[in-house]
Amino acid sequence: MSGPAVELRNVSKRFGVSARPVMDHVSFRVEPGETVVLLGSSGAGKTTTLRTINRLVEPDEGEVEVEGREIRSWDPIRLRRRTGYVIQDVGLLPHLSVAENVELVPKLEGWSPERRNERVRELLAFVGLAPERFAHKRPRELSGGERQRVGVARALAVDPPLLLMDEPFGALDAVNRRRMQDEFLEMKQKLRKTIVIVTHDVPEAMKLGDRIGVMHAGKLLQIGPPAEILGRPADDFVAELVRLVEASSGARRAPPPRAEPSAHGGGGGARPHSSTSEGSEPSDERGEH
Ligand SMILES: Nc1ncnc2c1ncn2[C@@H]1O[C@H](COP(=O)(O)OP(=O)(O)O)[C@@H](O)[C@H]1O
Ligand SMILES: [Mg+2]
Repeated sequence: MSGPAVELRNVSKRFGVSARPVMDHVSFRVEPGETVVLLGSSGAGKTTTLRTINRLVEPDEGEVEVEGREIRSWDPIRLRRRTGYVIQDVGLLPHLSVAENVELVPKLEGWSPERRNERVRELLAFVGLAPERFAHKRPRELSGGERQRVGVARALAVDPPLLLMDEPFGALDAVNRRRMQDEFLEMKQKLRKTIVIVTHDVPEAMKLGDRIGVMHAGKLLQIGPPAEILGRPADDFVAELVRLVEASSGARRAPPPRAEPSAHGGGGGARPHSSTSEGSEPSDERGEH
């Protein structure tokens, strides 16, 4: 496939006629295999933007294209196959086992029980949950990190090329969050998915994003590689927002003055308020959680 995996052009959305726009002429592209992080504080319009991409939200104006095709012309079943969706509280069905949760979409797709079973085992192993230990558990028997892994396995079930992740690590404690971020980066290397991920956490955005789109009040203020956002904020507002969002996010201690911006840091440039989570959290022992 040539061309972008996802493209939004001038997308606007209001909930209710008199309300302010939740998305205000948002335009960006995501290239195949790229990870774009939408970063902004609560209410910025990040979730709404993400949900236009799998058509859970219909824009009032503008176009959303996935794989070069306007989303409205997509067959819903095809869209379900092509996009995986991971949300913060995971949305696992409590009365179903881990295996049954993971095989939901394959079942809808009419896969045979043998094929589903094989896929569930493969996916659980992939996300680091031994199938023989976890397949039959209920969500309530799992830790937050384990539930999140099941959510990722479920989203990957039919191997969609596009993953949409909304604050996927938001409910986790610092240690598990850090671990899941590291695993996310490994997974990304292995699977080569196109990923759009939403977060309000600046260090997380810096760590995970090939590019970061900064949102505020429904507008996409700037989109670029982490080093560019930090080093060359498009305006005072982005500079201030990065500082503010950072102060209100997971940065519990003063960040180190000169941490590495990210493995993907492109252009250089001064980083007047550079910070990442590196070194700002307790070191992470790799045991079970
Ligand atoms: N279905 C909806 N109906 C009415 N208002 C909504 C709906 N979804 C989102 N909003 C409002 O849109 C704004 C942006 O929401 P959202 O996209 O969830 O922001 P974010 O994910 O950045 O926190 C918020 O003020 C929210 O209350
Ligand atoms: Mg949100």
